[in-house]
Amino acid sequence: MSQPSPASASADAERALLERRARLLGPTYRAFYRNPIHLVRGSGVWLYDAQGRKFLDAYNNVASVGHCHPRVVEALSGQAATLNTHTRYLSEIILDYAEKLLGTLPPHLGHAMFTCTGSEANDLAIRIAQHSSGGTGVIITDFAYHGATIATAQLSPAAVGAKGVPAHHRAVAAPDTFRDGGRAADDFARNVAAAIDDMRAQNIRPAALLLDSAFSSDGIFFPDGSVIREAADHVRKAGGIVIADEVQSGFGRLGHGMWGFANYGLEPDIVTLGKPIGDGHPMGAVIVRPQLVSSFGSNTGYFNTFGGNPVAAAVGIAVLEVIEGEGLIENARTVGAYTRNLLRALQSRHGMVADVRHNGLYFGVELTAEDGATAAAKTSSVVEAMREDGVLISSCGPRGNVLKIRPPLPFSRDNAEQLAETLDRALSKW
Ligand SMILES: Cc1ncc(COP(=O)(O)O)c(C=O)c1O
Repeated sequence: MSQPSPASASADAERALLERRARLLGPTYRAFYRNPIHLVRGSGVWLYDAQGRKFLDAYNNVASVGHCHPRVVEALSGQAATLNTHTRYLSEIILDYAEKLLGTLPPHLGHAMFTCTGSEANDLAIRIAQHSSGGTGVIITDFAYHGATIATAQLSPAAVGAKGVPAHHRAVAAPDTFRDGGRAADDFARNVAAAIDDMRAQNIRPAALLLDSAFSSDGIFFPDGSVIREAADHVRKAGGIVIADEVQSGFGRLGHGMWGFANYGLEPDIVTLGKPIGDGHPMGAVIVRPQLVSSFGSNTGYFNTFGGNPVAAAVGIAVLEVIEGEGLIENARTVGAYTRNLLRALQSRHGMVADVRHNGLYFGVELTAEDGATAAAKTSSVVEAMREDGVLISSCGPRGNVLKIRPPLPFSRDNAEQLAETLDRALSKW
């Protein structure tokens, strides 16, 4: 019997893994890419598959300071080998972390409450908003994603569709800075005011405005801060509070300070954190104005078995030290601008590149075609072609026609050139 070739042996092994995955994990899990990748190792901006093929990661903001950063791994394993309990015991490292994290945020946000995921952070933020305001209604954007718990899924039209959003919440058009000459961005505050009027007409009290600072699933937008501040004013006047969801945009990604809301000149009442907070480890946090939790704290209290445990605290401190020590915010700003220029240069070569928007190392590249469906199909083909060519990105937006590029923060100019050259080749196929 002839031996299988190495290529067909690896294809067989991957097919077997996919079948095993479907059998064990069920039908809800989706793998990235038509030809899913079997990753076995990561380092910095690089990911390696089971055959030793190296991929440039231009997508993962979770391992934000770089895959398997040695400083983070050392902090994690050192604390795991020493003690791991929870927040019901006195612990210096948890307080050291809270102090360091709060030090990166505006002083009016005086308390940190720890969770294990961004969904939990938003869920807790909504509970606090509803408790402190006495209202129930939350305003979100119309293709937002805020999480996977019941409360946050119901505020995630990107996952559950418009019909999945309960009648006491309102979804307003995202501040799209590109389509129709940016009309939705200009109208954003007016749309929020109209949503509040509409709630009131139905005896619904507003509890909060919940915004992802990068409008990630809506298609990645960075509107003018004045419309965001004005929308926040409307909500506060109506008795609600403002929650900045920094699960995607936080920790220096946008290249100007640590937080996306600061770019809008916004002073949120609550900030929710996740993904990049732990460089791949399950962590999240709610950062809150102390007044908002005084009655919530005495009425219901809060405990999360794993949230804010000593190992998480050690990881969190290491992540903050790496961001600072390696100048990653400055890198996001300068390499982000360099990458934007390379991507914009592609606009003159490829008619289908309609818009390149970014802040720091967070890019939305909008592709157009004769009709929406064609644009989405082409966008997906570009993502697939890049994967085959060794660069990992994805897509987003209600029409699925925006390339989402969001690499780990140590991304270099060389990495940016590889990204742009690979995208150039992928676009040339059309
Ligand atoms: C903006 C935003 N908020 C919240 C979440 C939920 O975070 P997690 O998946 O950690 O629960 C996500 C996840 O994609 C997100 O993108």
